[in-house]
Amino acid sequence: MRGSCWLNRRIEQRFRLLAISTVKSMKIKLLLFFCVALTLLAFSTTGSTFLLWSSNNNDNNNHNQTPPLRRFTDSRKGYSIVMNTWKRYDLLKQSIKHYSSCPRLDSVHIVWSEPEPPSESLLKFLYQAVKSKSRDGRYVKLRFDIYKEDSLNNRFKEIKDLETDAVFSIDDDVIFPCSSVEFAFDVWQSAPNAMVGFVPRVHWADSLNGEDTKFRYGGWWSVWWTGTYSMVLSKAAFFHKKYFSLYTNEMPSSIREYVTKNRNCEDIAMSFLVANATGAPPLWVKGKIYEIGSTGISSLGGHSIRRSECVNIFTAMFGRMPLVYTSVKAVDSRNVWFW
Ligand SMILES: *[C@@H]1O[C@H](CO)[C@@H](O)[C@H](O)[C@H]1NC(C)=O
Repeated sequence: MRGSCWLNRRIEQRFRLLAISTVKSMKIKLLLFFCVALTLLAFSTTGSTFLLWSSNNNDNNNHNQTPPLRRFTDSRKGYSIVMNTWKRYDLLKQSIKHYSSCPRLDSVHIVWSEPEPPSESLLKFLYQAVKSKSRDGRYVKLRFDIYKEDSLNNRFKEIKDLETDAVFSIDDDVIFPCSSVEFAFDVWQSAPNAMVGFVPRVHWADSLNGEDTKFRYGGWWSVWWTGTYSMVLSKAAFFHKKYFSLYTNEMPSSIREYVTKNRNCEDIAMSFLVANATGAPPLWVKGKIYEIGSTGISSLGGHSIRRSECVNIFTAMFGRMPLVYTSVKAVDSRNVWFW
């Protein structure tokens, strides 16, 4: 024990020196990991390892049943899924089939911007899929919102028959277990003005030469390393439906035109919009992600130059940088094994 702690102090000192010269915030988690690993190692060699644990756990024997997954027996108002899709019918089928079993899902709206309307066989499959998951004769409503113009702004158009305040905006190529989605919905209910999502991103001030600040878009690695973020992407996020009308009717049209023309960054624009309206950061929720498409690489960089350009252009169009940093992450405490 003493040995490992001494080592830890040494590591910590070296890390602190490093931190001063390179990055501001270091991964405490790494240190914690070393500490736990070394402590376990020290314990296992003395042979008295887990007695400590088991004697503590005796107290808990009479309430070790796991709690039921659904927390509310009354069905409070649910949420709607707004799914963006583009000529990937297998993914669409898989996604709809999956989500229609989520308990508090009210309806699914598919944003359809293809020149051809959805085929009979696709419609038939999807309605069947939704019906097969019905409970007590009630099943998830399925709607297509068909647009003539092919634009990424379509995913944020107002939807007339949207009956819930909560919208879960999702791409067709990522799947989250219902437990993750429902947990994110709980988080959103605590903060209904915020964007609450699974995919955090960040922006950095690039050159600090006075007023002419340029920003850089930071991907997954940036967020992982610093634990800081300022956006959650609309490929998997909850937000209030009022932001649809703000996006379509109130936001400067130059931003929507930029999005259509460049076929990119509608998600950054939405993050700007919500941040500007609330003055508050988004909320990152921990959840399991299954990427069923083949576009996973884009999240690891490569296209970050175009994304940085979007951040800078939108900053100019908003007249300021509205994004707010945070490091809050919401986790389901039932799934945390360590404290
Ligand atoms: C940003 O927020 C301000 C204050 O709420 C508002 O007046 C302005 O119209 C918003 N800007 C955009 C581009 O939405």
